[in-house]
Amino acid sequence: MPTLETYPQTLRVEIERGNHIHSFDVPAHKNQTVLDVVSWVQQNADPTLSYRFSCRVGMCGSCAMMVNGVPRWTCRTHMSKVTDGRRQVRIGPLRNLPLIKDLAVDMDPFFDKWVEAGGVHQGNLTRDEDMAQVDETSPARQAANEGIECINCSVCYAACDTVAGNPGYLGPAALQRVWTLYRDEKVADADKAALLEGVSGKGGCHNCHSMGSCTALCPNDLDPMAAIAGLKRASAKSFAQSFPRSFTQSFLKRKS
Ligand code: FES
Repeated sequence: MPTLETYPQTLRVEIERGNHIHSFDVPAHKNQTVLDVVSWVQQNADPTLSYRFSCRVGMCGSCAMMVNGVPRWTCRTHMSKVTDGRRQVRIGPLRNLPLIKDLAVDMDPFFDKWVEAGGVHQGNLTRDEDMAQVDETSPARQAANEGIECINCSVCYAACDTVAGNPGYLGPAALQRVWTLYRDEKVADADKAALLEGVSGKGGCHNCHSMGSCTALCPNDLDPMAAIAGLKRASAKSFAQSFPRSFTQSFLKRKS
């Protein structure tokens, strides 16, 4: 990693804008992030540049872009990490989502998949009842906790080659949300069965090829690939249990 002394004075920043690439020379600073660079371009070189961000501290998930062909949360990605000592970086809009303008994409398809997957907790208490008590130390709660830090940045969705080849695929984030709910002890068994059925068909968990880009690139170190594998196992088990016991026994007898 370059030191303060060796870091180049300017960076050549290429920004994909529709069918064109616009280049800018941006002052380099130690510890500047990719989002800092994009903001510098918009504030000092081209005010028409469109991009999206909000919190700047890795919480809102709105700043993800392609950086040298890799999806990243730009507010928490230092330039030194992606330039590797070179003076050049290319920044583009997230892939697998429709382009609005420059670096801003339409997130609707991403969030539509969450709704389609059924990843919404349906509470069964009224406001007049006491809140459900959850033991934070229980193994079931700890297991469900593994996936709750998703910030909806869509990095995993942009990284997924299955989404790229099959736009109907629900994608890593929506499926991980369903897996989180499926393991949540607050969710009733009947609701869990409905969740599983919703992700077992067309576009569901069995479309995943386990390539692992989602897990490798998740900025919050979540593991969507393992979550999807869990859904596949639960779905297969549920399918096998749906056969009458007599059918399963006669099938096994024929095989032996
Ligand atoms: Fe909120 Fe980057 S601006 S996560």
